[in-house]
Amino acid sequence: MNKKTALVTGGAKGIGAAVCRALAKDGYNIALNFNTSEKEALSLKYELSAVTSVEIFKADVSDSEQVKKMFSEIENIFGGADVLVNNAGIAQQALFTDITDEMWQKMIGTNLTGAFNCCRSALPYMIREKSGSIINIASMWGEVGASMEVHYSAAKAGLIGLTKALAKEVGLSGITVNAVSPGVVLTDMMAQFSDEDKKVLADETPMGVLGTPEDIAVTVSFLASEKARFITGQVVSVNGGFVI
Ligand code: NAI
Repeated sequence: MNKKTALVTGGAKGIGAAVCRALAKDGYNIALNFNTSEKEALSLKYELSAVTSVEIFKADVSDSEQVKKMFSEIENIFGGADVLVNNAGIAQQALFTDITDEMWQKMIGTNLTGAFNCCRSALPYMIREKSGSIINIASMWGEVGASMEVHYSAAKAGLIGLTKALAKEVGLSGITVNAVSPGVVLTDMMAQFSDEDKKVLADETPMGVLGTPEDIAVTVSFLASEKARFITGQVVSVNGGFVI
């Protein structure tokens, strides 16, 4: 199959869904990973099937066996993933001293180990092809740290470290590895915030507004494209100026 394929983890809703729509429009086959959002995944598959080939793959990215199985299914159907967008993630607010072993492991497992598992499974195909693009969705809190989100900030900072180090390791294989670091974006992840909290966050943002999933998706689309062939190991902040 000549057409290139993009795998988007946690692609059923929010930023991941916007990324799937953008990459479908760019002409990729879409491999849409979901863990629990099957209904949304099926509905997005139906929507995007008018534009490109789409398959959905159920896997918890924190589980390396499930990830290996997902990649072997992707290879069977599409040949491999040319673009990997590590988007699946969870957020949580808690006082540092209230973070339990389980909360810490789930946060690191999903937001950092998940990306490790997917990169490790994606790379053999990309190295064979001498081409590929990995885009990790980090967070501005991984750049500067957030109070009450130490486990989230640590996982995202780890993801930024993974991005930079892996970029150095696989550059000669023609593979770019970058991170997109969003500011506050209106998705389900922000559902726990009241309208008043959101207004405060918008007021704290120099551009005066909160981001949309599409703001992140256009950046991912650019980084995945040939136009970005000389960009690797970078953290591209898309945050309305919240962190400069
Ligand atoms: P969301 O909650 O709408 O989407 C996250 C997706 O990841 C969901 O579909 C969820 O089911 C999936 N997911 C969670 N755990 C998973 C697992 N173990 N395996 C597979 N899929 C799993 O949230 P949103 O905002 O779209 O988040 C996407 C990414 O953007 C996350 O990595 C998040 O940390 C990051 N981000 C979001 C910001 C925001 O303000 N919304 C700001 C900065 C970063």
